Amino acid sequence: MPLLEIKALNQNTSRYVWKINESFDELFRSVALRDVSLARLEGMKSESHQKGFLSVRRLLMEAGYNDYDLFYDEFGKPHLTDGKHISISHSNDFSVIVISDLMVGADLEILKDKTIKLAPRFMDVSHLKDLSATDLLKKATVVWGIKESVFKIKNEVGISFKDHIFESNFNLEEQQCKVVLKFNNKEEYFDVVFDFIEDYVFVCAFNSVSLNDFSGQTQS
Ligand SMILES: CC(C)(COP(=O)(O)OP(=O)(O)OC[C@H]1O[C@@H](n2cnc3c(N)ncnc32)[C@H](O)[C@@H]1OP(=O)(O)O)[C@@H](O)C(=O)NCCC(=O)NCCS
Repeated sequence: MPLLEIKALNQNTSRYVWKINESFDELFRSVALRDVSLARLEGMKSESHQKGFLSVRRLLMEAGYNDYDLFYDEFGKPHLTDGKHISISHSNDFSVIVISDLMVGADLEILKDKTIKLAPRFMDVSHLKDLSATDLLKKATVVWGIKESVFKIKNEVGISFKDHIFESNFNLEEQQCKVVLKFNNKEEYFDVVFDFIEDYVFVCAFNSVSLNDFSGQTQS
């Protein structure tokens, strides 16, 4: 069964995960696509990307939607016609959608060493101190996912991962943290949850409901 999991992230939000075991043909036969989606699919260079795209349509069906209920804005951000919020991520063998009554940004990232090398470019590396090699990789990848997730909510040109999005320091066991976006002379707070699915990190950000308990050390 390629649908791996449906999980409630909170009372307003569900996560749907697909493990992509099928061939392109199997997936293609199982979904109905709008013309615009078919054109996008045909334009994709890699079969892996195509399968990610198709498996997202399968996940939509699991959630009671289909490709006709999904549209994209000019920035590429997905929306549902019924007004619920959706965020989409796909990475190699997995795809995920999160559907919520709240604004939401979700990201799935494979654990790979390159993320550690890139860490100084996107995060406060003091948050990686005193960790085992395994935890260092996990935490750097979570932080990357945090930044992608917040970006997916905000969707604004000019946001820099390193200069504008700050995570509170957190332990991996907590599976949550606080984030502040400092951009355009405004501060905006986010609650983040994360967990691990095989060799992947899943991260999901929400606009924060509790503004007063951010304990991150920010650089600006
Ligand atoms: C848009 C972006 C967040 C996508 O993330 P990604 O890790 O490449 O890919 P994912 O699989 O996680 O997400 C892809 C999905 O994000 C969604 N998406 C694309 N643009 C989006 C946007 N502007 N806002 C919200 N969601 C968006 C789409 O649903 C897309 O999948 P689909 O087109 O097949 O439906 C990413 O490409 C991006 O632009 N990041 C910001 C770049 C940046 O500032 N980098 C800083 C480096 S220090």
